[in-house]
Amino acid sequence: MTPLSHTLQQENPAGTADFLPINGTDHIELYVGNAKQSAYYYQAAFGYKLVAYAGLETGQKEFASYVLQQDKIRLVLTTPLTPESGINQHLMQHGDGVKVLALWVDDARRSFEETVKRGAKPAIEPTVLRDNHGEVIISAIHTYGQTIHKFVERKNYNGAFLPGYQPKSSNFEIKPVGLKYIDHCVGNVELGDMNKWVQFYEEVMGFKLLITFDDHDISTEYTALMSKVVSNGNGYIKFPINEPAKGRKKSQIEEYIDFYHGAGVQHIAVATDDIIFTVSELRRRGVEFLYVPDTYYDDLFERVGTINEDVETLKKLNILVDRDNEGYLLQLFTKPVQDRPTVFFEIIQRCGAKSFGKGNFKALFESIEREQELRGTL
Ligand code: FE2
Repeated sequence: MTPLSHTLQQENPAGTADFLPINGTDHIELYVGNAKQSAYYYQAAFGYKLVAYAGLETGQKEFASYVLQQDKIRLVLTTPLTPESGINQHLMQHGDGVKVLALWVDDARRSFEETVKRGAKPAIEPTVLRDNHGEVIISAIHTYGQTIHKFVERKNYNGAFLPGYQPKSSNFEIKPVGLKYIDHCVGNVELGDMNKWVQFYEEVMGFKLLITFDDHDISTEYTALMSKVVSNGNGYIKFPINEPAKGRKKSQIEEYIDFYHGAGVQHIAVATDDIIFTVSELRRRGVEFLYVPDTYYDDLFERVGTINEDVETLKKLNILVDRDNEGYLLQLFTKPVQDRPTVFFEIIQRCGAKSFGKGNFKALFESIEREQELRGTL
C-alpha cells in the first residue's frame, strides 16, 4: 500500500479502514438501440451537453458512444455498429438499459483486487488505457443481472472522457435544466434475491445497510414491494435494491423484470437545487412524468408542515413532498424513457431530508398501477 492510498482511505464509525474508497459516480453507461437519436433526446429534453464521442470517425469500428454531461452527471450512450458486437445480445434481451454503473476511484487495481478477493465476479481485469492526454486505469466487476460496476482511476488523465474518445460538442444550443449529481441508483432484482444482493454490497464492496422498507411500508391495495438501501463509506453512493412482494396483482417490479428479462437498473435519481425550474423545463420539452391526482395535495400541509415552495405550483407541476426528521424533500418520477416499461429517472431536491420519500410510496405506486393498467400488465 502506498502512503498516498493510505491517506485516501476513509475511516468508518467503527474505526476500520474502508477497503473500497469511492469519490463518486464516474459515469452511467446505457446500451441503446440508436445512440445518435438518444443523444439528441438527452441533449434537447434533459439539457445534457455532448462532450465526447467514439465511433467510426475516431477509429472505433464496433460501437458508437456519446458522452453527455450536466454539472457532475455523465451519461454515456452506446450502440453496436456490427451484428457481431456483444452489445446486441444485451439490447435484444433488455432493450435500452443501463449496462455500467461506473465508480470513480483513486486506485482501480486495488478496487478490483479487494472486491474480487471478497467474492466479486470479475468483468474486466485492470487495464491501462493511454492517449496523449495521459492514462486511465479501469477494471470492472459484475453486479445484479448483466449490470457491471466499472472502477475508473483518472487522476493521471486530462482528456475529454477516456482514451479512445474525442472531444465533441453539441451542434445546437443546450439549455441545462439544473441537474447536478446522481443522488442514487436503484436496482430491481428477482423475487427472493434482495438479501443476496444486499449481502453482496456489504461483504464484497464494504457498503452498509442504510434503510429497510418492507411490504407494509410499500404496498397499495393491489401490489407490494420490498426495498433495502445500501451506501458506501462516505455516503456518496446509494443503491436501493427492490424485489417484488406478494400482492393481489402484479407488482411494478415484476413488470420490470418481465420486460427487462431479469434484474437491472430501475431508476436513476438526479438531484437539482430548484425542482420547480427543472420540472417546468422538462415538461415544456416533452418529458413525461407520472401523474398523481390533485387529492394528493389536500392534506399536504398536515403531512409535511411548512415548506418554502408554493403548494399550488407544486400541484400544477405534480411534484411530491415528503418529510423526515432532518428536513423535507421534493421528488417526481418520469415515465419510462423507452418503450419497454423499464428504466426511468427521478428528479429530487433535498431540503435537509436524507431519506427516500417513504410518505410518497403509496401515491407513486398507485400512479404506476394506473400506467400498468393501461399497458395491460397489472
Ligand atoms: Fe428513488
